[in-house]
Amino acid sequence: MGRLENRVALVTGGGEGIGRAIAKLFAAEGAAVVIAEYNRETGAAAAEAIREAGGKAEFIATDVNEKEQLLAAVDLALSRFGSIDIIVNNAYGGGHLRRLEDKLDEEFDHSATMSVKASFWAMRAAFPHMKAKHWGRIISVCSLNGVNAHIYSADFNAGKEGLRALTRTAAREWAQHGITANIICPGAASSAYLKFKAANPDMAGAMDAMNPMGRIGDVDTDIAPVCLFLASEDSRYMTGNTLFVDGGGHINGVVWAPEPESL
Ligand SMILES: NC(=O)c1ccc[n+]([C@@H]2O[C@H](COP(=O)([O-])OP(=O)(O)OC[C@H]3O[C@@H](n4cnc5c(N)ncnc54)[C@H](O)[C@@H]3O)[C@@H](O)[C@H]2O)c1
Repeated sequence: MGRLENRVALVTGGGEGIGRAIAKLFAAEGAAVVIAEYNRETGAAAAEAIREAGGKAEFIATDVNEKEQLLAAVDLALSRFGSIDIIVNNAYGGGHLRRLEDKLDEEFDHSATMSVKASFWAMRAAFPHMKAKHWGRIISVCSLNGVNAHIYSADFNAGKEGLRALTRTAAREWAQHGITANIICPGAASSAYLKFKAANPDMAGAMDAMNPMGRIGDVDTDIAPVCLFLASEDSRYMTGNTLFVDGGGHINGVVWAPEPESL
């Protein structure tokens, strides 16, 4: 018996990286998973790999910035699998490292929509179903960048901190309905991180070296299992928490000064 047997999970951005690892592990633990991803190739491949391994998964092409598409992903969970019990607010993409004074309105709009509004849309749509079952799990993937106000990513930082506030408010309001809402701030060698590392090799090396564990995390073995815990019955008395899943990188902070390598 898996730890997520009879649960239905929606994972945004589940085509690659952390989202894909979460979807894979949740399915291996018995959950039916809807992968809402805007990259049709990776999203379809992630769902197919789960099915080939004997799990239950559907892919739906979804740009989370488009409300109707995200709501269609929630609807798919309900129509195909009959429920929506777990939401992982994970999708993020785009953006440029720039000084605050050079940031564009569009960059802030993009980050606010993808982080805050998209997560709100999914959570609000799932709420009546979670409430009816008196059971729900919300997991939002945020960032140390926001917590520590890392430089040149003000739009990303603000969006992620907005998502943290949204998630903590859901924790407060929905605890009475059996719904928990927690946050992880990961440090993991996802495709996004590897691109960053290619553009900023010295800084990435310094970040790894400063990490108390001396390495960047692995999406499958370091990050996804913490999300499994948060999605499972084991975390039932935890809500509104931010877990740093980063080898202790947050304790003294990490180097975050992209100049002059990539700016
Ligand atoms: N990797 C890290 O160390 C790290 C650190 C801090 C925060 N995060 C957060 O973790 C989450 C996952 O990131 P990752 O590192 O696995 O990156 P990733 O690029 O490997 O995965 C992100 C996924 O989201 C998808 N996506 C992007 N925009 C989308 C959209 N509009 N609609 C639907 N899907 C979309 C991408 O196609 C991709 O599959 C993100 O929220 C990111 O900000 C990661």
